Amino acid sequence: MRQHVNPLSSNFKQIEKIPSLNEMFGDSKSNLHLDIGCAAGEFLFDLALFNTSWNYLGIEIREKLVKNAKFKVFRKEIKNLYFIFGNANNILNDFQCKFIIKNLKSISFNFPDPWFKKRHHKRRIIQPEFINILSNSLQKGTLIFVKTDVKDLFDYMDHTITSNFYFKKIDEKNFNYSKSFNPNKVKTNREKYVIDNQLDIFEKIYIKI
Ligand SMILES: C[S@@+](CC[C@H](N)C(=O)[O-])C[C@H]1O[C@@H](n2cnc3c(N)ncnc32)[C@H](O)[C@@H]1O
Repeated sequence: MRQHVNPLSSNFKQIEKIPSLNEMFGDSKSNLHLDIGCAAGEFLFDLALFNTSWNYLGIEIREKLVKNAKFKVFRKEIKNLYFIFGNANNILNDFQCKFIIKNLKSISFNFPDPWFKKRHHKRRIIQPEFINILSNSLQKGTLIFVKTDVKDLFDYMDHTITSNFYFKKIDEKNFNYSKSFNPNKVKTNREKYVIDNQLDIFEKIYIKI
């Protein structure tokens, strides 16, 4: 069982220098999707390989995973995939990253760490201040995809997002994935595990209005 990283640790206050979209991607004008808490990035490698008209950006707090993912991108000469190391809250709150938020078509939070104990809830990635940052800078129409197998965490994230006036729920049953960042409904590693073990998945899509 892996040791969870405490995102509030002072180690993550300093963030790496964020390159421009031109430096990150072969075609900086392609649609941009951000996956927060992407782990080793396998999900994003699968997506980037098949959907070459999208750019994919992953943020992950475990440095080793990001180093390995960056090396794999370099080795395979993938031009529509980029990884950033650090606490996503700090990264997206940084002035350097305003351009990233402004250019996003969608964001996914796939199976974020649940931090079950109440005193640890503030370590959860989705926080009211974070949702405020997103609502202040995302373009209208940007989508947020949330998935988890923990009902309590789902309720907490759903409440936090819908408490912000600028996000509205979308009925995911009638959602047309074909034009989304994930037209083939590729599964994340955690999602595959959850399906194999017949656990519940709680998911929702929100749109910035
Ligand atoms: C349970 S794993 C899920 C990984 C992947 N999304 C999946 O569905 O298989 C959660 C991931 O989020 C990362 N993470 C947790 N808090 C984070 C934060 N504040 N910023 C960036 N990544 C974070 C963890 O290190 C871990 O890799």
